[in-house]
Amino acid sequence: MKKELTEIASSVREAVASISGSPKAGEVVGKGVDGAPSYNADAVAEQAAKRKIDELGLGLNILSEESPYVDNKSGQTIVLDPLDGSHNLIRGIPFYSVSIAIGSRSLSGVQYGLVMNLVTGDTFYAEKGKGAFRNDELIHVKKFSEKDSLFFVYMGANASNNAYDISRKSGMVRSLGSAALEMCQVAMGKADLFYLRSVDNAHALRIVDIAASTLILREAGGEVFDMTGNLLDMNFDINDRKSLIAVGDKSLRRLAL
Ligand code: IPD
Ligand code: CA
Repeated sequence: MKKELTEIASSVREAVASISGSPKAGEVVGKGVDGAPSYNADAVAEQAAKRKIDELGLGLNILSEESPYVDNKSGQTIVLDPLDGSHNLIRGIPFYSVSIAIGSRSLSGVQYGLVMNLVTGDTFYAEKGKGAFRNDELIHVKKFSEKDSLFFVYMGANASNNAYDISRKSGMVRSLGSAALEMCQVAMGKADLFYLRSVDNAHALRIVDIAASTLILREAGGEVFDMTGNLLDMNFDINDRKSLIAVGDKSLRRLAL
């Protein structure tokens, strides 16, 4: 599926290339399936992805952030976030991605995942049981060392106080606004963890944001836990939202508790 997923991602990259930072990109054009505002940039990305999926004739169901579920009566579903990090693209901040996974029913049923950095074209890919790759090179998480730690922590009005406690445990902290891409940095050992804990469940993450990056991180040797320290699982349900901690070194699970 690598070829097909890469083609879908590349078509999104091409479609959004000229709109980053433009006033038009930030125009509200409707609502996503979960009621969140949908911007012109999201619509452009979504149309490009859907057009390519149709062209490829994959015949799979489609669960996307931006449009109603497409039931093609297949056992497999494409789980798509056409644009992860919409606000970065809208402001012209060069850190946003497309996230595409294929699997059945739930996060644990994801078989293939691809996240493409839409600015650089860097592509992260995994097939279950076959390792994780960045641009065809095998990637692996790093071992945690306090001296050399870097955490991605979601901050802001909806962040739980725990987020501030976690951030004090690392010398370096970043909050970059594309969960999928931040988790891929953990997968390739550039960072130790990604932590998003929201006081308000309406701002926690959806399956579309993390389906691909969870497989990529797990295949690279890391893990994703919910806030009770259990392995994260989520149904293919756009209304389900979860806070999570995604770690390279599994010993960091303790920070979930
Ligand atoms: C958002 C990004 C961001 C996270 C938000 C998500 P979107 O996705 O992943 O990092 O903090 O919770 O909604 O809206 O740009 O697809
Ligand atoms: Ca999105």
